[in-house]
Amino acid sequence: MKILVVGGGGREHAIIMKLAESPRTEKLYCAPGNGGISRYAECFDVKATDIDGIVALAKKLAVDMVVVAPDDPLVMGMVDALNAEGIMTFGPDKAAAIIEGSKAFSKDLMKKYGIPTAAYETFTNAGEAIAYIKKQGKYPAVVKADGLALGKGVIIAQNEQEAEEAVRSIMEDKIFGESGSKLVVEEFLTGPEMSVLSFTDGNTVVPMISSMDHKRALDGDQGLNTGGMGTVAPNPFYTEAVAKECMDKIFLPTIKAMKAEGRTFKGCLYFGLMLTPDGVNVIEYNCRFGDPETQVVLPLLDADLVDIFEAVYKGTLSDIDIKWKKQSCACVVMASGGYPKKYPTGLEMSGMDDKGQVDGVFVYHAGTKYADGKFLTAGGRVLGVTATGDTLQAALDKSYEAVKKINFENAHYRTDIGKRALSAK
Ligand code: AMP
Ligand code: GLY
Repeated sequence: MKILVVGGGGREHAIIMKLAESPRTEKLYCAPGNGGISRYAECFDVKATDIDGIVALAKKLAVDMVVVAPDDPLVMGMVDALNAEGIMTFGPDKAAAIIEGSKAFSKDLMKKYGIPTAAYETFTNAGEAIAYIKKQGKYPAVVKADGLALGKGVIIAQNEQEAEEAVRSIMEDKIFGESGSKLVVEEFLTGPEMSVLSFTDGNTVVPMISSMDHKRALDGDQGLNTGGMGTVAPNPFYTEAVAKECMDKIFLPTIKAMKAEGRTFKGCLYFGLMLTPDGVNVIEYNCRFGDPETQVVLPLLDADLVDIFEAVYKGTLSDIDIKWKKQSCACVVMASGGYPKKYPTGLEMSGMDDKGQVDGVFVYHAGTKYADGKFLTAGGRVLGVTATGDTLQAALDKSYEAVKKINFENAHYRTDIGKRALSAK
């Protein structure tokens, strides 16, 4: 099969490397891709949000399958456009992608179908939102922009003043753009977080191996929220008992709810979960593979990803046997100094071979460019240095050893990825 992957980050690199393992894969394409991806797949300079451009490219290349990985093209309806051309596509259509595209939608869905989540109210007016928070008088208060905001649309306000600032900055100053014309105020929950990605064809749901993200920029979960500074899999908090609770109270009810709403979800549904003292709650849904969760989940997949994607599209997922390696995986993100705020690009990188790799690990490229035999930085998150091992500690040791070999000016990474997971139990 000839397969086109839409997107250009570490997640897409991980999807491409897993697809490359399939005997069914003949040729891999990526749009727009990045420097590291270009060493494994032919890249085309078409934006991931350019629906007409991607449809035209898929037709020109006569691909057999398209995988749409990022949130924005999914929410905009890229899958609908590809399906309309009869192209086999992995990813939810626009009607289903709203589960990530609107937090108000997903919260209302959970309320209607009794899926455990933090108590909330939705507002379209800043004054009303502020009055509600003041009346509740409970801090921290969680303020979320309704729409997509690159994983950064959540503000945890510690007091009345911060809450008022959060509401005004989202609704009036539009710091997250139009995604802030509506907002959700919700109860603050506590407990370890767990990411569970799942394959679903709308009827069957198969959870992947669990993982743990590290969202804050600095060690000790300090600093700003980022897209994710590192991940480990499996997540030790996701025990068999927790997995069963999730299946019964969250995964199956969500799939059924979406179908009942006429929004059958086919693709990868990501459950962002928190293990609270009162049981597991949904923090968020994403309509796609997580980044950098995918970088630690797919290396542990012991099955053919092409078969799985095809089964999701055809609605035959229950026929497929999906197994996982009994190992651990760790991904340490190397970011540009300054990320998630302003950072420079175009810095020359050293320490990697011509494929962008280092012995003993796999380096998923997130924001790099390849030119004249050199890799240059091209984004906030630059690399995801990833290793598997028989234990989490072994995987982490390999990742960190490789991280030390890679250099670019002002490279920033957390030194405590996996620490919380190692101290669990
Ligand atoms: P989200 O984009 O909804 O995943 O939120 C980003 C991060 O904010 C989550 O990973 C949590 O760490 C935190 N968060 C979101 N909602 C809540 C909540 N209701 N209570 C506590 N923390 C939350
Ligand atoms: N790592 C969190 C996300 O992909 O949204």
